[in-house]
Amino acid sequence: MEPIRKVSIIGTGSYVPEKVLTNKDLESIVDTTDEWIYSRTGMRERHIAAADQAASDLGAEAARKAIDDAGISAEDVDLIIVATLSPDMFFPSTACFVQEKIGAKNAFCYDLGAACSGFLYAMDTARAQIACGAVETVLVIGTEKMSTFIDWEDRSTCILFGDGAGAVVLQAGGEGRGVMQSVMGSDGSLAHLLSTPGGGSRNPISHEMIDQKQHFLKMEGRDVFKHAVKRMGDTVLQALEKNGISSDEVGCFIPHQANIRIIDAISKRLGVADRMYSNVEKYANTSSAALAIALDEAVKDGTISKGDLVVLTVFGGGFTWGANVLEWGK
Ligand code: UT7
Repeated sequence: MEPIRKVSIIGTGSYVPEKVLTNKDLESIVDTTDEWIYSRTGMRERHIAAADQAASDLGAEAARKAIDDAGISAEDVDLIIVATLSPDMFFPSTACFVQEKIGAKNAFCYDLGAACSGFLYAMDTARAQIACGAVETVLVIGTEKMSTFIDWEDRSTCILFGDGAGAVVLQAGGEGRGVMQSVMGSDGSLAHLLSTPGGGSRNPISHEMIDQKQHFLKMEGRDVFKHAVKRMGDTVLQALEKNGISSDEVGCFIPHQANIRIIDAISKRLGVADRMYSNVEKYANTSSAALAIALDEAVKDGTISKGDLVVLTVFGGGFTWGANVLEWGK
């Protein structure tokens, strides 16, 4: 199915906070070892935001770089979509805070909630908005301050996450096929396997809820792992088929950066280990920012160049998952 109007990514940017937390540092916080973390996850270090940096601050840094890279001004942006599970506050949206920080005064703004899959979902929403002619230029940001929402006494989760942000600017037109059709899916029956159960309308803020640490992220790691491998692998194949592309034609696969063993399992299944991109070693799992940071790095370090076909795939809480195919046109 051809889009009504072609849509291209015309700029990318990313930002990670200065402070680095290594596996060695984690050894003095919880009962763990560098060896356990690296062998089970492929992670060596992660970045942690400063106390006065919220998700919108990280997102605004990435957004400014993406806008510069696109060669446009912030006032050219018609729509800002922020994907995050660590918003500045319940409302207003983090997108509105980013708008104010970067001076995108002509944009309308909203957040999109799809946990770690949020950036890909937001990119597809932007593509559809542009393809149908509603808007011309969209800024999509994945930004997370995960460090605020994890339990620093729970070794099974606190070692896994990092803070950071990535952004892309999408616009109508461009060379090549641009951003093509996505395949996305969700399964709400498995929501309990990865969630932050407290603090919302189901289990509101109370002393008891906080004493029980329900305001922190909870995960059944082994179950999530199995579903992530299956769903990302399946969805990549479905997205390739939907766009009439064979995996041999793809120059770069960028999966969600949650665990190198998940990435290796998908590589093996698809037979694409030589083209699989990973930076999980440096940033750990930055949730909805992970794909955006990896895409920016892959473009800037020359892994992706003009004319390359790129496949993005994600998996996250909900469960949610998806894959997108694009032709790099810059
Ligand atoms: O972004 C959303 C998507 N998220 C993911 O995709 C994450 C998916 N899950 C995973 O990546 C993996 O399941 C983990 C990295 C979370 C865990 O790895 P695992 O190989 O599945 O380990 P496990 O949970 O089966 O735990 C094995 C052992 C346990 O000890 P026992 O019960 O065998 O004695 C844990 O208590 O490792 C222990 N353990 C640790 N040991 C040292 C758990 N966390 C740690 C730790 N350091 N940090």
